[in-house]
Amino acid sequence: MSSWRATVFTLFPEMLPGPLGVSLAGDALVRGVWTLETQDIRDHGIGRHRSVDDTPAGGGAGMVLRADVLAASLDAGLAAGDTRPRLLMSPRGAPLTQAQVRDLSQRQGVVLVCGRFEGIDERIIEARGLTEVSIGDYVLSGGELAAMVLLDAAVRLLPGVMGKEASGAEESFEDGRLEYPHYTKPRDFEGRAIPEILLSGDHAKIAAWRKAEALRITQERRPDLLQGAEAKAEPRKR
Ligand code: ADE
Repeated sequence: MSSWRATVFTLFPEMLPGPLGVSLAGDALVRGVWTLETQDIRDHGIGRHRSVDDTPAGGGAGMVLRADVLAASLDAGLAAGDTRPRLLMSPRGAPLTQAQVRDLSQRQGVVLVCGRFEGIDERIIEARGLTEVSIGDYVLSGGELAAMVLLDAAVRLLPGVMGKEASGAEESFEDGRLEYPHYTKPRDFEGRAIPEILLSGDHAKIAAWRKAEALRITQERRPDLLQGAEAKAEPRKR
């Protein structure tokens, strides 16, 4: 099978692969499970200074990335028949979810556009079919770290990246729950014991305990996840 392809449009190509060059994602990159290409938006900057931004229409602070520059970069960097999803990393986007990450990992790859400055010209979003995606309700200084977060989450789900023991099916968020707690050696850690049931060898009881713990922790920390799961399990009758 051909590699999962990531293309990142950025003003700071030197930020990549960054952390994606080591560990799980880095090994997979070396093995060719996925490929990473960066496109330097500044290559399509205007004039001798390769200018990419300008002052906001209507006035105000900061600079805005020009639509024509980004369009030129996207048009030059993407083949005509490229059907990969095109995402714009932006705090205004819908929050990224594990379900979305899994979906992306099952496609041919992804195109990520990283904003900088105060923003990018709004017109490019529709003109080039970009979907805004956020990695959380806080503002980063640019989309690059957000892009790397998304790529890390997707790449680890590609076939052959994680061991089979960690297909991801039992992880946090996969069934609308946070994960149950884990323990290993030593049996006594500073007077704290491992829950007795985990040492019992009774696999059915262990599975039931883990399910109950996952539910308890989710109720405590993220009741919003359970509301989502209920809505999915029993769709409202009308
Ligand atoms: N760029 C700046 N902040 C961001 C965020 N929270 N998510 C995605 N991209 C961003």
